[in-house]
Amino acid sequence: MKKLIQLNVNGDTREVIVEDHYTLLQVLRTEMGLTGTKRGCDHGACGACTVLVEGKAMLSCCLLAVEMPGRKIETIEGLTGGGQLHPLQRSFIDNGAIQCGFCTPGMILTAKALLDENPKATEEEIKRSLGGNYCRCTGYNQIIDAVKKAAAAM
Ligand code: FES
Ligand code: FES
Repeated sequence: MKKLIQLNVNGDTREVIVEDHYTLLQVLRTEMGLTGTKRGCDHGACGACTVLVEGKAMLSCCLLAVEMPGRKIETIEGLTGGGQLHPLQRSFIDNGAIQCGFCTPGMILTAKALLDENPKATEEEIKRSLGGNYCRCTGYNQIIDAVKKAAAAM
């Protein structure tokens, strides 16, 4: 059965019509046009769909949209404040941590959640944090490097 819900995404409250089984990923991409959040495996294994919910990195393919009203959701589109790239975005570009870019939004949001909580994260902590985010292109070294350099710059 369809129902109208309100979602707080990137600081804006928007109304969307959803069915009980719609995932947050599905609603972000198809109902709200926020296609920066990627659909990879669609079952919690790749990290491509990572968003922040109340500041924590979560897999939007494993969350039901009907459970999200009242919770603050942030997607990659919300990171660019006032036309400025977030330091993590800048660092990913500067350090060659993006190739096809499919994993990048999830990587950056996972790293943001980590650095917001632990600005002095060690390399081991960065690796552990990004352990659920798969990248098929870069070999990971540039990504770890980009997060370390962003942490230093922040
Ligand atoms: S699409 Fe959600 S974890 Fe892969
Ligand atoms: S840059 Fe292609 S999957 Fe990571």
